[in-house]
Amino acid sequence: MTLRGIILAGGKGTRLGELTKVTNKHLLPVGPYPMVYHPLKKLVGAGIQDILLVSGTEHMGDFVELLGSGREHQCRLTYRVQDEAGGIAQALGLAELYCRDVRSLVILGDNIFRDSLKDLVAAANEKPDHAWVMLKRVPDPQRYGVAELRDGRIISIEEKPKKPKSDYAVSGIYLYPPDVFDFIKTLKPSARGELEITDVNRHYLENNRLSYRELPGYWTDAGTLESLATANQLVAKEMPSY
Ligand code: DAU
Repeated sequence: MTLRGIILAGGKGTRLGELTKVTNKHLLPVGPYPMVYHPLKKLVGAGIQDILLVSGTEHMGDFVELLGSGREHQCRLTYRVQDEAGGIAQALGLAELYCRDVRSLVILGDNIFRDSLKDLVAAANEKPDHAWVMLKRVPDPQRYGVAELRDGRIISIEEKPKKPKSDYAVSGIYLYPPDVFDFIKTLKPSARGELEITDVNRHYLENNRLSYRELPGYWTDAGTLESLATANQLVAKEMPSY
């Protein structure tokens, strides 16, 4: 089954203060590129040619001006507006028509990481009806979705737990079969008023259809002043592989 790419680049970016007063987080620089180039290059590097970018109304024009049809990046881009920042799973739900009969490789636009996604795609091709997540050990798991592992399997998954059961963060790199959209339609907003991607992943876990890979290289989000600085330092030291 074919794979299409999805870059989620909506949200409010409020944690970046003045930096996102007149622009979108994913247009800020990380190394030599605007942030959004990194997930785009990862998807193209993994052999994906059709990519959907989701963002809010405010800065969609800037994304179109920056990336155009995708031709310069050897891909075909489609754009979809998320009217309000209702959560990652809501943003993903907007890809339903685009990915109806194909699997989706989804990257949160503020995730910066070293490794190419070729290995994930190869592994996922072996189990095409599974959802796949990429894990990374971190010193501050309470900031993320957290996966608990036993005997090489994920046995629980929680969003930003106060007492994390492990130090394995669930990164913002996901691969889903087409039935993800049926489940998203049944989701209810969480306490923070968002449709949570962790609820989607837990659904696959409960159905014995959640697999994972670990990211060997560096990984960070870039959604806070501190992590944006970290992302720039990591990329300056070693450019990501695409
Ligand atoms: O970075 C990985 C983490 O991302 C995961 O470990 C968590 O499980 C997941 O919930 C998410 O956590 P954050 O709270 O850090 O997500 P944030 O709200 O910062 O959104 C991350 C990206 O998702 C953002 O760069 C753009 C996109 N997004 C987010 C929201 C809420 C959208 O496109 N639309 C949205 O409505």
